[in-house]
Amino acid sequence: MLEILVIDDDMRMRQLIEEILTEEGHSVTAIGDSREAMLMLKERHYDLVVTDLKMPYADGMEILAYAKKINPECLVIMITAHGTIESAIEAIKKGAYDYIQKPFGPDQLLVLVQRAEGHIKLIHENKRLSEEVRSFTETGFIGTSRSIEKIKDLIEKAAPLDTTILIQGETGTGKELVARLIHKKSTRFQNTFLPVNCGALSEGILESELFGHEKGAFTGAMSRRKGLFETANGGTVFLDEINNTSPSMQVKLLRVLQENTIMRVGSSMPVPVDVRIVAASNTNLAEDAAAGRFRKDLFYRLNVVAVDISPLRERREDIPLLAHHFLNKYGKKFNKEISRFSPHAMEILSVYAWPGNVRELENVMERTVIMETSSEITPQSLPSEIRGEPPDPLSCIGLMTLDDMEKFLIQRTLRELEGQKNKAAEALGIDVSTLWRKIKKYNIE
Ligand SMILES: Nc1ncnc2c1ncn2[C@@H]1O[C@H](COP(=O)(O)OP(=O)(O)OP(=O)(O)O)[C@@H](O)[C@H]1O
Ligand SMILES: [Mg+2]
Repeated sequence: MLEILVIDDDMRMRQLIEEILTEEGHSVTAIGDSREAMLMLKERHYDLVVTDLKMPYADGMEILAYAKKINPECLVIMITAHGTIESAIEAIKKGAYDYIQKPFGPDQLLVLVQRAEGHIKLIHENKRLSEEVRSFTETGFIGTSRSIEKIKDLIEKAAPLDTTILIQGETGTGKELVARLIHKKSTRFQNTFLPVNCGALSEGILESELFGHEKGAFTGAMSRRKGLFETANGGTVFLDEINNTSPSMQVKLLRVLQENTIMRVGSSMPVPVDVRIVAASNTNLAEDAAAGRFRKDLFYRLNVVAVDISPLRERREDIPLLAHHFLNKYGKKFNKEISRFSPHAMEILSVYAWPGNVRELENVMERTVIMETSSEITPQSLPSEIRGEPPDPLSCIGLMTLDDMEKFLIQRTLRELEGQKNKAAEALGIDVSTLWRKIKKYNIE
């Protein structure tokens, strides 16, 4: 049901419209004096204004400007007389939702109002999602799907307990975000959170990074150096990509977990450390352990609490919320007033497979916000690979005529097929005599 204000100085017309729209279940106020209408607009909230264009006192254009000033979300449908299409277009340019030409039948009006109602619903839905997103930004971990709710619950329970936590999920699903959240909600929150990418460093470097080294432990070890475990004392160490550690590294990590001590490279003196370990893997570590790719004992030690983050394609209900979250984020960053998604654009985002998960969605939203020139995210501003369209084969060529195009295609086909006319004609889907004619026409060598 919509709150509608009908303004028309023609009494019969306005009564007719009031009747049609009331019959549909809308709450309608009809008024003949446009100055009075302006007072009403100020007094009450209207979703939709249906106004005549030509009226004494304030005309439709003035009503339009005023209604939009009071409430930018209010939709205005302009009633125009036959033959005044220019003023109708002018009204649309100034922000009218649509126009309808006199004389019109009840159905014509109803179709228009129904469409407006869909539009208003969409605005409300977008607003609701934006607000919901705002209420989430406290943690920054967005999602209402069952699997995300379960993870939030698990974080609340396990974060303060100081246990080791293993986070698993495909690339870009938010493993590091979850690790940081665990640290924030733990008793260690005032101390360091230290991420270490185990997959990016060679074994030797990783070992001395993590455990430190004594002076002279290896060539180039000029002095004694503390490792990350010691630096993070009292805090949390995030061992990212732990699935990519070597077997001997796994033994050393097991020791840290079992005994809470480390040994600096070049020393056999255990040094006690107080760190919480949160580890992440982008493979299924249980499978890796079963297949002998990862130490079973280390796996069990890590897997005290397991957080498994589902890929985005398995929790598509989170996509609209995440998309709004990133729209807010990048809208602010790039100073753009984009407040919503067109239904088609949102549908495209909702059905895409997202192999790069949330990170990919974030990157797409960043690019899209930069590209978008209207106040709404439209399919045209989405990258073509997301829209599922094949890349434009001619994107590298500028404007050309159809004749140029034909000549270009024939030349290219002949070149590819080393001048064999029969094969070229077949590839082009024409017969050889036609090909000969075109070769002559275009002067092709
Ligand atoms: N549920 C979520 N809510 C909000 N932002 C998210 C969410 N999940 C992921 N992100 C964002 O997506 C990006 C990628 O997340 P993150 O770096 O935590 O992924 P990852 O699982 O560690 O990926 P990788 O395995 O490639 O290292 C980050 O910018 C992160 O803030
Ligand atoms: Mg990561």
